[in-house]
Amino acid sequence: MVDSVTAASVMRSVTILGATGSIGASALDVIARHPHRFRVHAATAQTNVAELADIALKFTVDVAVIGDPTLERPLRDALRSRGAKATARAGRSALIHVAQAPECDTVLAAIVGSAGLEPTIAAAEAGKRLLLANKEAIVCAGELMMAAVKRGAAMLLPVDSEHNAIHQCLAGLPESERATARLILTASGGPFLKRDDLEDVTPDQACAHPKWVMGRKISVDSATLMNKGLEVIEASWLFQIPADRIDIVIHPQSVIHSMVELPDGSVLAQMGTPDMRTPLAYALGWPERITSGARRLHLESAGPLTFEAPDRTRFRCLGYAYSALKRGGGASVVLNAANEIAVEAFLDERLRFTEIAPTIERTLEAYDPPPPRTIADVLDIDNEARERASEFVTDKVP
Ligand SMILES: NC(=O)c1ccc[n+]([C@@H]2O[C@H](COP(=O)([O-])OP(=O)(O)OC[C@H]3O[C@@H](n4cnc5c(N)ncnc54)[C@H](OP(=O)(O)O)[C@@H]3O)[C@@H](O)[C@H]2O)c1
Repeated sequence: MVDSVTAASVMRSVTILGATGSIGASALDVIARHPHRFRVHAATAQTNVAELADIALKFTVDVAVIGDPTLERPLRDALRSRGAKATARAGRSALIHVAQAPECDTVLAAIVGSAGLEPTIAAAEAGKRLLLANKEAIVCAGELMMAAVKRGAAMLLPVDSEHNAIHQCLAGLPESERATARLILTASGGPFLKRDDLEDVTPDQACAHPKWVMGRKISVDSATLMNKGLEVIEASWLFQIPADRIDIVIHPQSVIHSMVELPDGSVLAQMGTPDMRTPLAYALGWPERITSGARRLHLESAGPLTFEAPDRTRFRCLGYAYSALKRGGGASVVLNAANEIAVEAFLDERLRFTEIAPTIERTLEAYDPPPPRTIADVLDIDNEARERASEFVTDKVP
């Protein structure tokens, strides 16, 4: 359904960092439903030239950016052969440029991994409406990102479904109540919640999430529960809540997307079908509510809603994330980098699924850097941690 615009709405010009990914596709689906509210100023990808050129044509994008600088010529050719008018740009500086361009007022940060850090911070510094899906960026540079948001007077709207749910639950509460809230992040438990023998699981099995359709890296993170660990760190920065007031509950039906407990004992929850278009529509339209295309929730057919505590012995990544958050400094950067290296090696079939957690643990034990003071420090720690984690991976080829 394509909506007509209300008098109060303004036309927003959006840059989509990571337009060819799972979040990018969901965002474009929502945007296509609201042609009078949104236009796409810029779209980016890393290597997927064909998809990026298709998007540029379909959404009459002004600028298409390919992260891999060797692909600028193929991108230009692909745009021309389709008759797309977008200007082709390439490389890291072009990603940063479109994130802070005056031609856009809204930036969706949907690059996967710490590769999204610099353009995301650039959007914050430039005072954009910043729709944050790229959780690794805030995990690595939480303090610096929140400072950039403040300096740039940016508006930070979480897209991750759990944080989006919390944002919805906290909206309208006085600051004093927000500051004392307890956050309860729900986790589906991933595909291996009830499976004991994980020695021989394949990348495809790990990516077969029972409830959500997502990119491969976050799907593996969901299978190890590192995704929930990263989300605890993300929530702590976004909502300025310490680790000991952020809980995790396994809720396999993925109907409740997260909850907030208030001092009077009330627990507020946000519910819906598991579809990223809902949080994306919330963030794109905020403070207005716009249609998303997501299926309606029918509670009578949702079945029983169940909740259980996570098994921290089987899913050790959760503990690493909590302790990295408590340790502060560069520990979250190391945690994230080691996880990215381990997950990539698993997806390339160079590392067993069961070796992901030990690779992260060894890297955290081997490297305890001082707190990063600048983005350059974060990138240095990220590089060093990747090198150290890679050493553990090569030791562990099955
Ligand atoms: N998928 C979900 O449902 C979901 C939910 C909550 C949060 N998130 C978060 O949202 C982010 C994106 O997730 P996703 O599932 O959409 O990932 P994805 O499907 O793998 O898409 C990643 C996007 O980033 C681009 N990209 C990859 N490496 C890059 C690099 N080094 N530099 C610049 N761009 C790069 C990709 O381009 P190519 O296509 O050219 O490789 C693609 O456009 C992640 O941080 C994830 O944790 C995702």
